[in-house]
Amino acid sequence: MAKAKTIFACQSCGFQSSKWLGKCPDCNQWNPFAEERFEKATTPRGELSLGTKDEPAPIHEIDTTEEGRVLCGIGEFDRVLGGGLVPGSVILIGGDPGIGKSTLLLQAFAAVSQTGLTCLYVSGEESPRQIKMRAERLGIAAPNLLVLSETSLERILDHIKKIKPGLLVIDSVQTIFSTAIPSKTGLTTFLIGHVTKDGAIAGPRLLEHMVDTVLYFEGERGHSFRILRAVKNRFGSTNEIGVFEMKEAGLKEVTNPSEIFLMERPLAVPGSAVVCSMEGTRPILVELQALVSRSFLAVPRRTTIGVDHNRVALLVAVLEKKMGAKLFDQDIFVNVAGGVHVDEPAVDLGIIAAISSSSRDDVVDAKTVFFGEVGLAGEIRGISQAEARVKEAGKLGFERCILPSSNVAQLKHIKHPNLAGVSSLSECWKLLF
Ligand code: TYD
Ligand code: MG
Repeated sequence: MAKAKTIFACQSCGFQSSKWLGKCPDCNQWNPFAEERFEKATTPRGELSLGTKDEPAPIHEIDTTEEGRVLCGIGEFDRVLGGGLVPGSVILIGGDPGIGKSTLLLQAFAAVSQTGLTCLYVSGEESPRQIKMRAERLGIAAPNLLVLSETSLERILDHIKKIKPGLLVIDSVQTIFSTAIPSKTGLTTFLIGHVTKDGAIAGPRLLEHMVDTVLYFEGERGHSFRILRAVKNRFGSTNEIGVFEMKEAGLKEVTNPSEIFLMERPLAVPGSAVVCSMEGTRPILVELQALVSRSFLAVPRRTTIGVDHNRVALLVAVLEKKMGAKLFDQDIFVNVAGGVHVDEPAVDLGIIAAISSSSRDDVVDAKTVFFGEVGLAGEIRGISQAEARVKEAGKLGFERCILPSSNVAQLKHIKHPNLAGVSSLSECWKLLF
């Protein structure tokens, strides 16, 4: 057995030192060092999953035929992974405590284990009894799903050697972690990680660099919707999302997010506008709400939830300058209903429509969807994937899309909904108010 020794590793860049230092000589961060026990024989950092010790080869001769992916059986999950699990890959999944990470993986593993693959769920946070109780709540009966409550690395490795599972979950990296697990076993591994207050996965930042895929499981407290988002994926696109709803008996996939996000929309109320945002290849309709009211503060409030604060400030300035809106003494609140985040410029037009609608106390037609980027001169700029957005609006029964006129030309073949192209805010206003 290799001799264990203690080293100090910079949690931000990975620099290693045999002594504790106050400042990292490599990345100049203050106080980044944490003590780590280190076995001399472990694989060096960065060799987590490459697994090859090949000679350099001409790029055109490299074999790219993919090993068969394993489908989890939960469509939304497979989509975010880029079409299923790549054997041997290491996936880090982060999220706030209580958001549903353990539930999601227990459900996914139960589904995968139905294919005959042995899945091992190692928890350092819960006892087997607690996990069993959760499984019962989820209605899971999966003989190939093994549960182990353990925090000692040696013992986990021993079990892995004996059982030879096809899939492994470590819940969570904060309670048990060492790169030795995936690098020694070559197993498809999920690592669950908690997220700190500022939204980063707690623990060494290096972890995110070493794994193949980083997923975030997000949602607003008090809302049942959860969104699974890939922020790094060596085997697929990073802009796909999976939408789930947390129910009494676990997470349920939401295959028609637009419908759900619009379900409780008030009709004929000022300050509400529907926008179409693309999440990866998927158009999602969401309701934007704005409330503009007289401010009694020296500096009026600008509060946004679900949209970028600076973007809203910029759009308010455009409204004041180009459309003569008087907002300097008004508090402005903007919210995306359902606890979703939209951060595409294509939602600009909808934000502006909702703010104006509230400030004029004038209703925006409830059967209209907006999309278009708004420039500083008040011009409406073309956006990508207009056709997918228009089709989604049509599918959900909307009768009109107000969109950039430069996009209309490519969409002549679409008969429904009605396409109203605009190239400036004033043109848009003529249609609206
Ligand atoms: P959990 O998976 O334990 O979260 P995490 O691992 O991210 O910390 O989920 C915890 C929350 O989910 C808990 O507050 C209760 C809720 N929940 C349901 O609403 N329905 C369910 O079927 C389950 C299992 C949990
Ligand atoms: Mg948990």
